Amino acid sequence: MPELEEPERGTEPNSVTDVLDGPVYVVTAAAVGEVAGCLVGFASQCSIHPPRFMVWLSTLNHTYRVARRASHLTVHVMRRDQQALAELFGGETGDRVDKFRSVAWQRSTDGSPVLTDACAWFVGRIERHVEGGDHMGFLLAPTEQSPPVEGVPVLLRYRDVKDLEPGHPA
Ligand SMILES: Cc1cc2nc3c(=O)[nH]c(=O)nc-3n(C[C@H](O)[C@H](O)[C@H](O)COP(=O)(O)O)c2cc1C
Repeated sequence: MPELEEPERGTEPNSVTDVLDGPVYVVTAAAVGEVAGCLVGFASQCSIHPPRFMVWLSTLNHTYRVARRASHLTVHVMRRDQQALAELFGGETGDRVDKFRSVAWQRSTDGSPVLTDACAWFVGRIERHVEGGDHMGFLLAPTEQSPPVEGVPVLLRYRDVKDLEPGHPA
């Protein structure tokens, strides 16, 4: 018998998207003097040769508006104990709050913001944009990455943050 978690009482059966539990990321961008970043669940490696990674940003987000003018994005993965970073970047919007005031960050070679406390990160050059409905895809070609990670960290995943109220309506 497959292992099942207890269903929550009084809820509908889970859809496929409810049972997925992929990693979540903080994606940052900089353009014309502005920095931005948000929590992202819609993201995945999509090619090996050449290495490519796709990030989907809601067209309503502050981060999207900055990213459209950026040449690069930074994709960060976080450890499970870094919920506070996820709450800041997923629960607040850059339309109202300067998220970068309260976190340690520096610029990559290409000027993209790097959150120095993240578990691991890479910077990707934006190769193209892909219309995806209410999210826009940013196809990234990695140009720079964090030093190797020690051991196998427990990463922050969708289920750790699924109850977070997004800072911007989708
Ligand atoms: C679990 C979770 C996953 C999310 N995934 C995405 C995503 O894939 N793409 C996106 O643009 N926003 C996503 N969001 C929403 C943004 O992180 C959120 O609205 C954020 O406050 C936007 O900030 P900004 O307006 O400063 O860009 C997600 C939020 C949560 C809680």
